[in-house]
Amino acid sequence: MFRGLPDRYDRLAEWLSFWQNRRWRAALVDAVAAGDPRLVADVATGTAGVALALHARTGADIVGFDLDEGMARKGLHNVREARNGHVVPVARPAGGERHAIALAVARGEQLPLADGSVDALSFTYLLRYVDDPQATLAELARVVRPGGVVANLEFAVPDSPFWQPLWWLYTRAALPVAGLLTGGRPWYRVGRFLGPSITNYYRRHPLDWTLDAWERAGIGAVTVRRMSLGGGVVMWGRRK
Ligand SMILES: C[S@@+](CC[C@H](N)C(=O)[O-])C[C@H]1O[C@@H](n2cnc3c(N)ncnc32)[C@H](O)[C@@H]1O
Repeated sequence: MFRGLPDRYDRLAEWLSFWQNRRWRAALVDAVAAGDPRLVADVATGTAGVALALHARTGADIVGFDLDEGMARKGLHNVREARNGHVVPVARPAGGERHAIALAVARGEQLPLADGSVDALSFTYLLRYVDDPQATLAELARVVRPGGVVANLEFAVPDSPFWQPLWWLYTRAALPVAGLLTGGRPWYRVGRFLGPSITNYYRRHPLDWTLDAWERAGIGAVTVRRMSLGGGVVMWGRRK
């Protein structure tokens, strides 16, 4: 699915969302920063945009995990670039400098972290890709210390009877064409995939189900923020 995407991902994620992705990401980062974490896990980190934003905002060390090696490699490249821009020290040199941002290939369903070992966890655009969202939420919650923030960003289907048909038209008709024109065939595939993927996910797992699922996974005090006419949703809560 993600083959052929990493090179243009950062640019096209913004263009094709009309620059809303960065607003949603900022809201997610605000939620995590409120917990004043020292170590954050960022799951489905992709090209490390969230990891970089979290580090820049909080100064915390970040461990990012992604299933796709190509996305993670691009993430590593972005982290190194940021280092050149004096944002983060990255590599672990012989002298033992600390990792500010470390990336690894791993599945959100099975994180290589001990119970309660991070202060906070973020995950973005993940649950539509997993077979069992409830079990994945439990796994994400498992690695967060009690009281730590868990925060998520995901697309959503607008509720408004005015915006929903326009959203439908955009995701079903415009997005594949815009993807093709801006990114070629891999982005055409994404454009075709995304709308149905979002709709089908919420058919099976409406927002109310998700709120209950967070509770069942051991995450309480959950706040939901719908953004951009309902096209994006940021959720966060505290590990019980
Ligand atoms: C749309 S990208 C989002 C990347 C990044 N979070 C961002 O907002 O820029 C979704 C990412 O989820 C990753 N992913 C999909 N399923 C996953 C899983 N089961 N475990 C970990 N990562 C996964 C993909 O490889 C991809 O990099």
